[in-house]
Amino acid sequence: MWKIAIVGFGNVSQGFLRILKDKKESLKERYNFEYSITAIADPVKGSVMNASGLDVDFLMELFDSEGNLKSHPNRTDLGSIDIIERSEADIIVETTITNLETGEPGLSHIKAALSAKKHVVSTNKGPVSVALPELAKLAKENHVEYLFEGVVLSGTPSINLAKEALAGCDIKKVMGIVNGTTNYILTRMEEGTSYEDALKKAQELGYAEADPTGDVEGWDAAVKAQVLANVIMGHQIKIEDVQRTGITQITQEDIKDAAKRGARIKLIAEVEKTNGTVKASVSPQEIPLSHPLANIMDATNALTFTTDHLGDVTIVGPGAGRVETGQALLTDILAIHRKYCKI
Ligand code: HSE
Repeated sequence: MWKIAIVGFGNVSQGFLRILKDKKESLKERYNFEYSITAIADPVKGSVMNASGLDVDFLMELFDSEGNLKSHPNRTDLGSIDIIERSEADIIVETTITNLETGEPGLSHIKAALSAKKHVVSTNKGPVSVALPELAKLAKENHVEYLFEGVVLSGTPSINLAKEALAGCDIKKVMGIVNGTTNYILTRMEEGTSYEDALKKAQELGYAEADPTGDVEGWDAAVKAQVLANVIMGHQIKIEDVQRTGITQITQEDIKDAAKRGARIKLIAEVEKTNGTVKASVSPQEIPLSHPLANIMDATNALTFTTDHLGDVTIVGPGAGRVETGQALLTDILAIHRKYCKI
């Protein structure tokens, strides 16, 4: 029985809990995977802890319509790090809203968990961007895992595809659409919706970051490009090394002009390995309609891996969403379950 504590109780964690609940029986039958939720810690909404485990439906009802924790006997005033250290959980699910530049508070949560010899699965980009080598070392020293499939393309396999399914291939280049918000905005603008209205709708649909500047100015895509470079190509580049241009300067005129030339404007992330160095960039590019990436619409994401043995391998799928990102957490947890085979 795996004991799981959830740190950060927003859309992603709630989507993840819903999956755990709905799949409880099939996870047991198919993978011999059983779980209990021992704590939920949210730095803003409040925390609950109960070492003997908390029922998922019961947990969902503990939060009011604003997402705040109602009063409850198991409610605790302990801070998130205390809960991470004191709860009996052996896996910490870290999904707090985290600053991309500092990686906090996710970074401190992950360090505390790994130091306490707890596995970590996370969808948080900041800590990977700011401190991947340090966190990977900490995980190794403590004989636990730090997995973050959901950081790029949510549950659509990207990191696992490259590391596991394409193991042995040399990946020379990765190119694609890795931000749903901007692809959604560009799609709507082509239909005549204004930039402002399209952004508002993307926020309503839950694709955009808490501060959408991160999306429209290309920071979110740049972090994903950095993560791909560092995880897949084994180079340690910093976020400042990613050349970055967002979509804020793109007008409806630009989009119409591109259409006249038989093309579409897409925000493209590219990571390329040449002569032992890695270059990463994010920029709006005119993509001919004959190219597969030109036809990726709405909030869908896509990545093409250029490899030596297989040529181009392309994956297309959602890059955001509650259940979609919750799936990434599940896939990471099942990977830990397979490896450590704790029953
Ligand atoms: N804001 C991100 C996007 C969410 O629009 O793709 C997933 O990282």
